[in-house]
Amino acid sequence: MRLSMDLELQDIPGQLLLALQPFGDNKANIISVVHHRDRKTPRGMIPVRFVVEMDRSKIETVNAKLKESGISVVRAGEDRLIEAVSVVLVGHVLHSDLGDTVNRIDSTGFAEVMDVSLTMTGVDEPSSAYLKIRATGKAEIQKALAILREVGVEKKLLVIEPIERDIKVSLVGYGIVGHGVVDVLNRKKKMLRDMGLNLKLISVTDHTGTVVAEDGVDAEKILGERTLANLATTSMKGKEAISTIDSDLVVEVTPTNIVHGQPGLGHMEAALSSGKHVVTSNKGPLVVSYSRLKKLAEDNGVMMKFEATVGGTMPLISLVERTLVGNNILGIRGIFNGTCNYILTRMTEEGIPYTHALSEAQDLGIAEADPSYDVEGVDTAGKVVILANSLFNMNIKYSDVDVTGITGVTPEALALAKKRGYAIKLIGDVPALTVRPTLVPLGSPIAVSGTLNSAAIYTDLSGTITVTGLGAGSIETASAILTDIVSIYRTKRIDAIF
Ligand SMILES: NC(=O)c1ccc[n+]([C@@H]2O[C@H](COP(=O)([O-])OP(=O)(O)OC[C@H]3O[C@@H](n4cnc5c(N)ncnc54)[C@H](OP(=O)(O)O)[C@@H]3O)[C@@H](O)[C@H]2O)c1
Repeated sequence: MRLSMDLELQDIPGQLLLALQPFGDNKANIISVVHHRDRKTPRGMIPVRFVVEMDRSKIETVNAKLKESGISVVRAGEDRLIEAVSVVLVGHVLHSDLGDTVNRIDSTGFAEVMDVSLTMTGVDEPSSAYLKIRATGKAEIQKALAILREVGVEKKLLVIEPIERDIKVSLVGYGIVGHGVVDVLNRKKKMLRDMGLNLKLISVTDHTGTVVAEDGVDAEKILGERTLANLATTSMKGKEAISTIDSDLVVEVTPTNIVHGQPGLGHMEAALSSGKHVVTSNKGPLVVSYSRLKKLAEDNGVMMKFEATVGGTMPLISLVERTLVGNNILGIRGIFNGTCNYILTRMTEEGIPYTHALSEAQDLGIAEADPSYDVEGVDTAGKVVILANSLFNMNIKYSDVDVTGITGVTPEALALAKKRGYAIKLIGDVPALTVRPTLVPLGSPIAVSGTLNSAAIYTDLSGTITVTGLGAGSIETASAILTDIVSIYRTKRIDAIF
């Protein structure tokens, strides 16, 4: 069994050797010894922690021998600290900083510093410290790293974390977007490896079960199947698969439900609470529970990314969060639903009524058999909620959005508007929290046609920035998901630099 023992040694030479003796005599495999020479217990002794593998039957003998040598065993128990990570701190690392850091990690109850060393080259020269941290699980390692990053910011230290060589990804949902994700991860394998990211898709789950492959699923094989019914290697599904499979990141692409957020909400909670990053294209969980999910991610030291939920492949959330960082975002207005935009475009171009344009869109697969979610403005309103909560800190619900869809728009109204130099577009507006057919000047960069999406971002420093792009599509949506995955691992490295 793997045992962790806290001993107290007298502050005299030869004590450590004396303590090691009974373990060696009883063929214990010593995994680590942490000898805190610079710390004293309340009884003025030096604390030492041994982690050993040894036969359960030998424990009594070792204890008795230690006692005979005048060494007290303060605590002994099965070792719960099963994960480890090494970190280097660089800057002006002081003894007191290090002591404080060790205390913060040790006082969590789920992690502890098992090895620490400080190197100082000169009084005004940068110093560096090495820490090895052990914790009770992957999620706890992430939380401990989050504490170290906080320390880094507070004490202006560079926190250098280990590169994650294999990033194990689990995919949940295997429909249009799920197939795109498998395809894109497979196509971009080499490019990602060249960037230092060895992404391994180790599981794919749909409603029929899960395909698990430690060395990565066979993309060619599963791409030929619409569902996993004939390929599933286990019947595990949903939350059970997410919590059980040992992945670092979960891509959640099940159907959107903006009333209760399920099944995606449960999937995302299971992933975040077990210390896994989440990337999603599923609006439902974010519309229903954005702030709770964000807090869950923060509490577990992981990230949640959702670029694909608004505007598909069109960069919007990352553009605001990263490229426009430092700007105040005054507002965002745009076309966030390709189906509505296609219908309005065709009605304007051909002078055809709404019902004709809708059935044309349904024949082309642009509109669903039940189009109400799109044409009533529900989908656009969900995106307004996500933008308001994530980029404007508004903490709003779906019912806070004033929504009018496009079903009442006539070809005559479109023709009249056009004659006066306007297009009629379904525009979502934050922070106004409205979704409604709106007059947009014909030359405006957001007045895009067909299935395109667009967004005007109003800022205090950069003026108005406009983006357009495809709001849907298997590969296009998967592209936004890939961008989010890469940005999670890039952010982790940038955190390490600043
Ligand atoms: N399609 C796009 O272009 C696009 C663009 C942006 C965002 N999105 C969003 O991305 C998500 C996925 O879209 P999609 O078009 O790929 O939808 P989809 O084709 O309907 O695929 C959803 C997949 O999830 C599976 N699923 C349902 N319940 C599940 C559960 N409990 N556990 C595991 N898998 C489950 C479905 O299986 P069954 O089909 O057998 O039920 C299906 O394989 C949606 O939330 C959508 O709103 C889509």
